[in-house]
Amino acid sequence: MSQPILILNGPNLNRLGKREPHIYGTTSLADVEQMCKERAEKRGYTIAFHQSNREYEIIDWIHEGIDNASGIIINAAAFTHTSVPILDALKMFDKPIIELHISNPHQREAFRHVSYISYVATGSICGLGINGYPIAVDAMIDMLNAK
Ligand code: DQA
Repeated sequence: MSQPILILNGPNLNRLGKREPHIYGTTSLADVEQMCKERAEKRGYTIAFHQSNREYEIIDWIHEGIDNASGIIINAAAFTHTSVPILDALKMFDKPIIELHISNPHQREAFRHVSYISYVATGSICGLGINGYPIAVDAMIDMLNAK
């Protein structure tokens, strides 16, 4: 049995579906989790899906993932643009990392153009709405199966 794919979500994503729906859409994070679970299970993988508004919890999940996850998909939300600690935690994870954003940060305010996650991401997906999540799961599984 392969290790689960860790899917991490940062601050304010617990409000997905209600939060700025013109940018992030009307689907809840629980529905996104279900989409990811179904996509992974169809292909013989499991997921561990988490969200936190607290930086240290995201760091702790990355640490646990070093020994227990096959890959990490991370939407660090606003921590993307600020968090050296999350970057440093991801540097210890030597398996595939996909950076994910629902919106396209490059089309938005200048402060969103910087990503600490990009320094370590194997690849990035942005601007595809919540469809980016199952697409990221598929891309992760393709990478894992190619190994
Ligand atoms: C986001 C983009 C970030 O700039 C923002 O702070 C978020 C969500 C996205 O999914 O589009 O909270 O990561």
